[in-house]
Amino acid sequence: MARILVCCAWPYANGPLHVGHVTGSLLPADIFARFNRMVGNEIVMVSGSDMHGAPITVSADKAKVPPETIANKYHEMHSKAIKDLGIKFDLYTNTHTKNHEQVTQDIFLRLLEKGHLDRKSTPQFYCENCKRFLPDRYVEGKCPHCGYERARGDQCDNCGNDLNAPELIDARCQICGSTPVLRETEHFFIRLSQFERGLTEYVEGNKHWRPHVKAFTLNVLKEGLQDRAITRDISWGVPVPVKGFEQKRIYVWFDAVIGYLSATKEWAQLRGQPDDWEKFWKDPVCKSYYFLGKDNIVFHTIIWPAMLMGYGGLNLPYDVPANQYMVIEGQKFSKSMGVSIDIPDLLTRFKPDVLRYYLAANMPELKDSEFTWQDFSQRTNSELVAIYGNFLHRALSFTYKNFGEIPPRGELDERDRQSLARISAAADGVKSSLSACEFRKSLKAVMDLAQFGNQYFDSVAPWSLVGTDKARCGTVLNVSLEICKALAVLAFPFLPFSSESVWKQLSMPGTVESAGWNALSMPLTEGAKLEKPVPQFAKVEVSGEGGEFQQFSALNLKVGKVLDIQPHPNAEKLYLMKVDIGRTITMISGLKQFYSPEDLKAKTLIIVTNLEPATIRGVKSEGMLLAAEEGDTLALLTPEKDLPAGTQVASGMEPGTRTVPFKEFQKLEMRAVRPVPGDPGMLDIGSRKVKAASASPVPDGRYAAFVLGDRAMIIQGPENVKITFDRDIPAGAKIR
Ligand code: MF3
Ligand code: ZN
Repeated sequence: MARILVCCAWPYANGPLHVGHVTGSLLPADIFARFNRMVGNEIVMVSGSDMHGAPITVSADKAKVPPETIANKYHEMHSKAIKDLGIKFDLYTNTHTKNHEQVTQDIFLRLLEKGHLDRKSTPQFYCENCKRFLPDRYVEGKCPHCGYERARGDQCDNCGNDLNAPELIDARCQICGSTPVLRETEHFFIRLSQFERGLTEYVEGNKHWRPHVKAFTLNVLKEGLQDRAITRDISWGVPVPVKGFEQKRIYVWFDAVIGYLSATKEWAQLRGQPDDWEKFWKDPVCKSYYFLGKDNIVFHTIIWPAMLMGYGGLNLPYDVPANQYMVIEGQKFSKSMGVSIDIPDLLTRFKPDVLRYYLAANMPELKDSEFTWQDFSQRTNSELVAIYGNFLHRALSFTYKNFGEIPPRGELDERDRQSLARISAAADGVKSSLSACEFRKSLKAVMDLAQFGNQYFDSVAPWSLVGTDKARCGTVLNVSLEICKALAVLAFPFLPFSSESVWKQLSMPGTVESAGWNALSMPLTEGAKLEKPVPQFAKVEVSGEGGEFQQFSALNLKVGKVLDIQPHPNAEKLYLMKVDIGRTITMISGLKQFYSPEDLKAKTLIIVTNLEPATIRGVKSEGMLLAAEEGDTLALLTPEKDLPAGTQVASGMEPGTRTVPFKEFQKLEMRAVRPVPGDPGMLDIGSRKVKAASASPVPDGRYAAFVLGDRAMIIQGPENVKITFDRDIPAGAKIR
């Protein structure tokens, strides 16, 4: 029996979990831990929400709420999503606890005492406009390594290199956009150069690491390690336990990696054995595995090991099987279209095992993978449903119909014996690949066994035996159910919910989880009654995906500038307007009681340009302006920032190309919305609150939005310029 600490990267509490978190760290950690528990290893799996740092204060500033509000909200959401997905932690905590603060300060002070920290004054970016220092994400600029334009002060998300802010090219303040200046400020630095040799030996000595993780780390080491600031001019985070530093906080990454240790201590305290953490940190027999995405590699293969070496007496990471990225189909596209890849949202639409299947089968273990809706539906339907679910359901439902119970196993022929042998071979394969963190390969082995089950079932053709040789029919079904049972066990680390359900359908006692790997050798109970089986998985239909808001893409909306306004020759209440939408069109509008011609001059409007042209009192109107109306108030839609005439306002979709009948237009619901303060995921639409299609926080204000049931999507032009109104208008006002 081995002892293993399973560590999973701590997701920031500044937005909902998305598929990247799951496929990158949560799911591999969970599969690995489940498997190891099954084979009888002693496991502790820990993580929690990363509550500190600029990612959260930036969101909080934008939403004008305290950082706690954001952090607590997303910590709750993460905890729930993790549970619903079946990710089974021994402890999922967060970094804003007293325990974590103590453990962090203890490490800080010990490193200080041992001479691993340096206190010095260095120039940091300071925004004279915002009157504050700009740590980490508060400053953006061009990456000195790869040239990526939106590198942040601490890291470049494009090439994965960690940065010191003054290295950024053309730095700008993230809050106000102005060019910051450098100002002296005092901070603590970890002397990473002291650990260069030790780290190189440690990394080179690890023969089992994934090649890309090792190569990346050695490369960073080869370039030489700079001392890194581990405190910040910020008011949110773990206090620096040194006099004179009351206004500063410990850098989020320094405290976050300590979370693995503090969480293990918390776990031990919670179970009433406060010293048990030592079994996982001090006993060299224990192996620790760290699951994370490639952007986190340096922190786990260099900084955290350096901190541990400096502290002394604690185990270094045994393996860091970091994953690459899962690239989301047309990332920007999907997001602005309201196609959510947020886990809480996906969980309302798909069973957890369906998501787990795809995210494991397509896990970016060695190279980037891509999430596309098409691939998601295809793999679900053609593998999980058509092979795996199909075999289980065929075998179970045929047995149920014709026997109603587990039929006895009579004499086995050669093919039957080979099939049983095939099960053991599959089990061995799954076991060895899972021990080596080869998740795709092991899942493939499970699927191959299901495929084999189908072939066996076809070749023994129980339907042709049931009328002629019922005993033999019972035998082949018994063997088929044996394969089902093996599938339930082998798939358990990947598909825990359906595994337990198949286990029940097979009338097996207890649970797969409690029986563990030994469940493979537990016999079927001949004669045990069967319940009517239900299929485990249904096909997923995501055609038309690319956006539930797709129907709104029929509209072709453009920015229009008013050129000229005249009274309509034949109608007292109407104006005749000439508007520039890239070309000049004539429009009729009923604005007379709300706006004088003077008010309208040079206004920037949003025009529906592809409605069936209407002829109103003898004049043809070639477009329709959008306005929101509530009681006696009318407000015109207008972009929040000036956009040139003719700019397409397509909210990330393909703009409509056909002519839209007025009837169809009337069915599309559009309203003025307001972000719910402190709840960036929600929009107020007057009568109720609905979910925002994109979770990125939006400053308070009124915005035009497409509304679809319980969701709404803020209408946007290029570069996410939102559409708002030229006058005050209550949330909920209808747009027409
Ligand atoms: N919060 C970080 C991120 O989402 C990951 C932190 S992992 C930790 O990128 F273990 F260091 F906390
Ligand atoms: Zn600024």
